[in-house]
Amino acid sequence: MNYEKKIPLILDGDPGHDDAIAWVIAASDPRFEIKAITTVAGNQTLAKVSENARKIAALLGLDVEVAKGREVPLIADLITGGDYHGTTGLDGPVLPDPQHPYSSLSAVEMMAKVLQESEEPVIIVATGPQTNVAALLLTHPELKEKIRLISTMGGGLRNGNWTSTAEFNLLNDPEAAYIEYHAGVPLQMCGLDVTEQAVIYPEEWQKIRELHNPVAETVAGWLDFFSIKLKELGWDGVTLHDPCAVLSLVHPEIFTMNDYYVEIVLDGEYTRGMTMADYKGTTKNKPNCRAVTGIDREKFVECLIEACSRFGKEEQA
Ligand code: BDR
Ligand code: CA
Repeated sequence: MNYEKKIPLILDGDPGHDDAIAWVIAASDPRFEIKAITTVAGNQTLAKVSENARKIAALLGLDVEVAKGREVPLIADLITGGDYHGTTGLDGPVLPDPQHPYSSLSAVEMMAKVLQESEEPVIIVATGPQTNVAALLLTHPELKEKIRLISTMGGGLRNGNWTSTAEFNLLNDPEAAYIEYHAGVPLQMCGLDVTEQAVIYPEEWQKIRELHNPVAETVAGWLDFFSIKLKELGWDGVTLHDPCAVLSLVHPEIFTMNDYYVEIVLDGEYTRGMTMADYKGTTKNKPNCRAVTGIDREKFVECLIEACSRFGKEEQA
């Protein structure tokens, strides 16, 4: 990716511990300019994830308003992930109070405004259900050309996590994902194939804590909390799903990527929300996404530690 000029970013998500850490990485990178934060119901209700988003923005010193998105998926009933992320959706460390009021714009209006006003094409990092992005694509098709890339966390070419076939974000709003995958926009998919390899272990996030800056200590606290539920599920560490959607932009060399035609399955008692990759070329369709499938885990952790260390350097400067 060419970074001669800063890349404008829209962060769309449902924070959520791993969304929050993805946003930490985005905010740490001088090659990005975060233009907006938009929220979508998913890990918790819209009200809760939006409040979390405003507090994360305050923690990161981001001078952006949070624009609230849809409270429910386009058609499906909302599933929240409260068990995993706690009652607030981001349980764990106490966060600073929000510094900005909510935007008077909706998430879709905010995304459209950023795209309309941006001279450079924009990357949308979408780490929750794809509801807002789909609504944008449906209501503003003329803005597709202003989208440099939609970098998503969602789906899985080989498996699901919420059902045997479907990953949480995709199962929450399969119709939205269907619209996105059929929109003809550049799309990158970080599915479970890669994100379940993006694991960080306690001794590694201790190094983050020992950076002793407020952002790093908060990240370590989030990992402490998130690890509790994941341990019950048999994980020794924490799977950092959403950070892959940001780190794969700035460190593509540590990831494996392949282009596939991916179909979003909307029906079937057991298959709704599945991302079906056409490995065999059965559909005869051209690839519609770049799927990120592998990762150098240790380098990934190094990159995360480095990203967290940048906040300390800012304070010393
Ligand atoms: C996805 O679901 C959420 O719990 C996480 O934030 C991530 O976006 C992983 O399936
Ligand atoms: Ca998420």
